[in-house]
Amino acid sequence: MVASSGGIIATRCRLESVRTAIAREELQLQVAIIGLGYVGAVTAACLAKLGIDVVGVDTDRHKVDAIAAGRSPIAEPGLDELLAAAVASRRLTTGSLRDAVQRSDVIMIAVGTPSAPSGALDLSAVHRVADEIGASLPRDGRFRTIVVRSTVLPGSTDADVRPRLEAGSGMTAGIEFGLATNPEFLRESSSIRDFFEASRTVIGADDERSARMVSDVYAGVEAPIFVVPIRTSEMVKYTDNAFHAVKIAFANEIASFARANDVDGRDVMKVMMADDRLNISTAYLRPGYAFGGSCLPKDLRAITDCARKTDVDLPLLQAALASNVAHFERGVRLVEETGLRRVGLLGLSFKSSTDDLRESPAVALAERLLGKGYRLSIYDDDIHPDRLRGANRDFIEQHLPHLREVLSDSLRSTLAASEVIVLTKLWPAVAELPSMLRDDQVLIDLVGLPAGAEPPARYAGIGW
Ligand SMILES: NC(=O)c1ccc[n+]([C@@H]2O[C@H](COP(=O)([O-])OP(=O)(O)OC[C@H]3O[C@@H](n4cnc5c(N)ncnc54)[C@H](O)[C@@H]3O)[C@@H](O)[C@H]2O)c1
Repeated sequence: MVASSGGIIATRCRLESVRTAIAREELQLQVAIIGLGYVGAVTAACLAKLGIDVVGVDTDRHKVDAIAAGRSPIAEPGLDELLAAAVASRRLTTGSLRDAVQRSDVIMIAVGTPSAPSGALDLSAVHRVADEIGASLPRDGRFRTIVVRSTVLPGSTDADVRPRLEAGSGMTAGIEFGLATNPEFLRESSSIRDFFEASRTVIGADDERSARMVSDVYAGVEAPIFVVPIRTSEMVKYTDNAFHAVKIAFANEIASFARANDVDGRDVMKVMMADDRLNISTAYLRPGYAFGGSCLPKDLRAITDCARKTDVDLPLLQAALASNVAHFERGVRLVEETGLRRVGLLGLSFKSSTDDLRESPAVALAERLLGKGYRLSIYDDDIHPDRLRGANRDFIEQHLPHLREVLSDSLRSTLAASEVIVLTKLWPAVAELPSMLRDDQVLIDLVGLPAGAEPPARYAGIGW
């Protein structure tokens, strides 16, 4: 199944994938895997198990000899058995890079991309392999697709792999040969299960034919396929790993703080994880503007302050506050970069359908812009100054004492008075907003227009 995200490419591939899966026996797709380390060896064995003919290539003689003998070059549960069966059935063979490229339809690059001493990504093995593949690609009329399976930063396939393949072969990517990415998400020690029971297969491709060929390789895996632009796929891999690292660091910081307060951190995390609506869920993972409101900033400040006093180091939680400030500043910069001075702020409370203004990033943005001499008109259907009470009223009197002078009760009049429109929250009819703008107006989107709303010509999103 091919799912979402790649628009036309994904939808068309779906049909083709099904057709090709049916015709697999006649097609006999041949896959070359360059680099037989953890990723390459597991991919080779699993693809062979799916009935694909695989040829493996590595510069390390020991690894090649082990695989050719049907033994795993690495310690990985179940891999010995899979490799033995793959070699015995002759689905998996080994050979030279040139021979593998010439024999194959899909050529996967799975060499290492370690850290350089500076922390930078060392792409030297990818460079070498891309040069060699380029020089080995024959002009025989057969369309081959080169797939970057190694983990590389967004833009690397375009900047580092594409030109080397084109220079070596004298051919053009996307026309005479295919180019795609297919990041690997396996975890060592459960990699075979991760392959066959994948949550999703990610394919990066900027042309339909390349996407289709890689989809065909995965026709035997029951997982949705996401066909996305190459850069997106490269970024997805880093996003996954960054998220996993942040989750681990978060659990460990919470447990350290808990222990210092005579609480068992394992109990805390168990109860925390039982909330699958807000905690272990997609909630709070949609990019937008800075967080605010009466709880998140206050409670983060309290826990980090308490930790400091009790000598518990919580760099991640402290960084969450700093990160939020940095993100708030990105919003300010987006307005400044327009060079325009009349700003319409759509939304003032900290989220939709509430009039809570406490620590709302939109209030801080209004305060900053007024302080810098911008002419501001604010529209927020949830805010009625006469109805603000208690701490909410105190907060706004302290931060925006002249709220009544800048608050408008009509969306149209705010739009009419503004050169730049800053969208900070959503309301039911927000999809109509772009069509209400003049050609000369700029829309700065801090929340993400709803699906179906076409952004206007002059548009800047905060993370898109
Ligand atoms: N190990 C993992 O759990 C994992 C998971 C997902 C993604 N990745 C990514 O996949 C890529 C490969 O990782 P790995 O752990 O399999 O690396 P690895 O170091 O285990 O294997 C890389 C292999 O490439 C071979 N190689 C190097 N230069 C070559 C060349 N010119 N020609 C042929 N072979 C060559 C090496 O000899 C080695 O066997 C990396 O980008 C990594 O970040 C790794």
